[in-house]
Order: sequence, then C-alpha cells, then structure tokens
Amino acid sequence: MANSSLQFPIAKKLKDKVAIITGGASGIGAATARLFVQQGAKVVIADIQDKLGTSLAQEIGTKQTIIYLHCNVANESDVKNVVDATIAKFGKLDIMFSNAGVLGNPYTSIQDIDYNMIKNVFDVNVVGGFFCAKHAARVMIPNKKGVIVFTTSIVATSYIDVAHIYTASKNALLGLSKNVGVELAKYGIRVNSVSPYAISTPLMLNGFGINKQMADKWFAEAGNLKGILLSVEDVANAVLYLASDDSKYASGLNLVLDGGYTTTNVALPEAFKKLFQSTTNKTM
Ligand SMILES: NC(=O)c1ccc[n+]([C@@H]2O[C@H](COP(=O)([O-])OP(=O)(O)OC[C@H]3O[C@@H](n4cnc5c(N)ncnc54)[C@H](O)[C@@H]3O)[C@@H](O)[C@H]2O)c1
Repeated sequence: MANSSLQFPIAKKLKDKVAIITGGASGIGAATARLFVQQGAKVVIADIQDKLGTSLAQEIGTKQTIIYLHCNVANESDVKNVVDATIAKFGKLDIMFSNAGVLGNPYTSIQDIDYNMIKNVFDVNVVGGFFCAKHAARVMIPNKKGVIVFTTSIVATSYIDVAHIYTASKNALLGLSKNVGVELAKYGIRVNSVSPYAISTPLMLNGFGINKQMADKWFAEAGNLKGILLSVEDVANAVLYLASDDSKYASGLNLVLDGGYTTTNVALPEAFKKLFQSTTNKTM
C-alpha cells in the first residue's frame, strides 16, 4: 500500500548555480534573490543600497548562500570587482541578472531635456548593462555556458508621451540583449530579457511621486488583464524560467510580462464611441 506520508523532494531549479543580481536590494531584484536562494542558487546581491542589501542577504540566507556587495553598475571597476569576488567566493558564475535601473524624471518634455538628465539614466540602465554583459562574458566564455538576463520594460515595445529618456534607455538595453545573444551563442551562453508591466516598487513610487495605493489603482485601471496586479514575485518567476534549464533553448527572447498590455490599442473603438455612438445605433 502506498505510504501517503512519503514525501518526494521537489528538484530545485537552480541547484549548484551561482548568480549575480544587480539592483538586488529592492523590488524585482530582491524578489528574485529570495526565489533564487529558495531554488538552490548561491546569490550575490550587487547594489548601491548597502544597508538594505546587507540586511536582505542576512534575512534570506546564510553567508554560504547569499552575500551583499556594493556595486554601482555605472562604474566598470565595481562590476569587474563583483564578478571577481563572486568567482573567489563561490567558484564560478552561471547567471548574471542585469536588473539595476533608474527612472529619471518621467514627466520631462523633450524640450526640457538636457545632457545630464540623459547621462544619469543611460549610465545606469545602458552603460551598466554593457559592463554586466562584458564581465559576465569574460568568465562565462571559458566555461562554455552561462545565462545573462536583462530587465527591460514594456516601454521597449509600447510607447507613451512621457519618460523619453527611460524609454530610449530600455530600447537600447533590448537591442544590447539581442545583439550580445548573437555573439555569445557560439559559446553556449544564452542572453534574454524580461519586460514587465508597471509594479509599485520604489522606482515607480518615487519617480511619479505617488503612494502605493494610488499606483496600484492606476496600474489596475490601465492594465489589459483585469482583476490582478503584476507583482515582483511574478517577474522573479519569469526570470527563474529564463535563468534555469527550463529555458535551455531560449536565447534572444524578450519575455514580455504585461497581461497583453502591449498588444492593445483601443484608440479606434474609443474614438468611435466618443464621436459617433450617440448618433448611431452601433456599439463597439
Ligand atoms: N517597477 C516597474 O514598474 C518596472 C517595470 C518594468 C521594468 N522595471 C525595471 O526593473 C528594474 C528593477 O526596478 P524595480 O522596479 O525593482 O525598482 P527598485 O527601485 O525597487 O529597484 C531598483 C534597484 O536598483 C538599484 N540601483 C539603482 N541604481 C543603481 C546603480 N547605479 N548600481 C547598482 N544598483 C542600482 C537600486 O538601489 C534598487 O535597489 C529596473 O531596471 C527597472 O527599470 C521596473
């Protein structure tokens, strides 16, 4: 007779893998760090929020499973040092999750943009992505394997009338992700990106100057898929898929996690309703 109390261990998807997560002290990166450790990975959180990153690492695991290192991704020597320190501590690097990002001032008109505004966002979102890919490739190529994942955004595939610099930076990052994927494929290294819809993380709340309640209401109203909000855990699950062997033939992929938001354009039916619905019997 079968023993109903017999429990089979569920295989961990990242057993024996080593990952760096930039921007791992908060939001999407923090949720991914937590999930990766649960799934058996050794994790290095690389961020500029030292207090937050250190306490998060202590909360998630032990020094044998997760550590925090200071790393400003806009600074190449910081990124190089984190990659080298990861090899020194855990012996290898399997996964680079290049996730650190900033929004900048999303309200700025194209007419008010200056060089420093562009530089501040591009240095983190784009230059940081280049350094992460460069130093991950440096240590992954000799091993003939590895995975790089970038966090892009729905603004890399769908366009609004604000946040020009952020939008341009995420488009650049998506291009980088696809291009680097072509170069590194010959070494067995996969390169993918995840493009989430809006979530109430500090990046969004501070950037738009609104609280979580307002942001959640806003994102629910604008979202295509109703009755649910996207969470940082949902994005972490998508990154787990891209980082694990579950996606072993996926490269050059941009996993858009948006409830169908970027596939919608309701301008035509909305304009019909506004202009003609009251004068015709037709409904749309
Ligand atoms: N929240 C959203 O709606 C959303 C949607 C799509 C994409 N994204 C992207 O997701 C990524 C993570 O953002 P989040 O929403 O979790 O926000 P967040 O503010 O919670 O996290 C961003 C993290 O990046 C870190 N960071 C900022 N500049 C850095 C630098 N120079 N070097 C290292 N770390 C740095 C911050 O300290 C922070 O811990 C970003 O790339 C963002 O553009 C967010």
